[in-house]
Amino acid sequence: RDEEAQERIRAARARLGKKAVLLVHHYQRADVYQHADLTGDSLRLSHLAGQSDADYIVFCGVHFMAEVADILSNPHQISILPDLAAGCSMADMANLAKVERCWRELTEVLGESPDAQITPVTYINSAADLKAFCGDHGGIVCTSSNARTILDWSFAQRPKILFFPDQHLGRWTAHTMGIPLEEMVVWDPDQEYGGLTPEQIRNAKMLLWKGHCSVHQMFQPAHILRWRNKYPDGIVISHPESPFEVCRQSEHVGSTEYIIKTIKAAPSGTRWLVGTELNLVSRLAEEVKADGKIVEFMSPTVCMCSTMQRIDPQHLAWTLENLADGNIVNRISVPDHEAKLAKLALDRMLAVS
Ligand code: 13P
Ligand code: SF4
Repeated sequence: RDEEAQERIRAARARLGKKAVLLVHHYQRADVYQHADLTGDSLRLSHLAGQSDADYIVFCGVHFMAEVADILSNPHQISILPDLAAGCSMADMANLAKVERCWRELTEVLGESPDAQITPVTYINSAADLKAFCGDHGGIVCTSSNARTILDWSFAQRPKILFFPDQHLGRWTAHTMGIPLEEMVVWDPDQEYGGLTPEQIRNAKMLLWKGHCSVHQMFQPAHILRWRNKYPDGIVISHPESPFEVCRQSEHVGSTEYIIKTIKAAPSGTRWLVGTELNLVSRLAEEVKADGKIVEFMSPTVCMCSTMQRIDPQHLAWTLENLADGNIVNRISVPDHEAKLAKLALDRMLAVS
């Protein structure tokens, strides 16, 4: 059945020619990844979406990525997600109603509009309306590879940051800038005033939304400790969506693209423990084996991004066949008013990084 789907993908692609480009995130499963025209992390894929001139941008990733492709591409281009159920559980941890309520509560506590004191920063793993919120309030988008630069920019605008939805990326990045943990507080969107006192809110430099990635949340310092006992010369590298203690105990912390580049550039004979999604780690382990490098996965339990995994060969074949027949299916289209404001926040990011 799989081989049949692979064949259908090849045949549909041949019919589409240059009309379709396949952008594929590093976490995609091998049987989809092999069809990529272009691969990358979230930042690279955002750049590529704005540069391609194919009619159809077929995004093998998750919903927010296809939204970014729609926002940054040209008006004639159409962004497609092969399975509409491929969302991101972290992105769903923040929504516009909750962020607007947070902004109202901050207005009450600060006695003025937060626009005067707080730069809203959304991780790219968020819905388009949250990017629009940031665009509208002088804020910006960041990815895991440019978070440091974006926070520098944000603090140059205003003394405080509201960072959503990933507390871990926000905390780790602020930590690398020398901001003490005591100046960071977690805003729980399910409690009034985020569960914080007015004093905590007024004293904080970083307000971190209580959100996380369910995949990276699985990595624990105990996994690193156990591995280091076995391999004292081994090197640990983690994605910044991992918990703070995991990042602190890693030699390197960075985006998926950074992890791949760092390990590919490392000397032969090195051994690596990697804290990020399993599809990426397995592929990388295979690719560097011939150079005498050993790459191992951080968690003893299998943790994949189950929503990325939904983009399978069957969905991809069905999507491409429909496009080749002239039927546009699974289109991701951000409403104009929202796209305009979201683009403002994305353009600020692309200009700064
Ligand atoms: P990057 O590819 O930007 O490192 O992000 C990882 C991720 O979780 C995408 O959802
Ligand atoms: Fe979202 Fe985590 Fe999957 Fe990335 S790995 S798409 S943050 S659930």
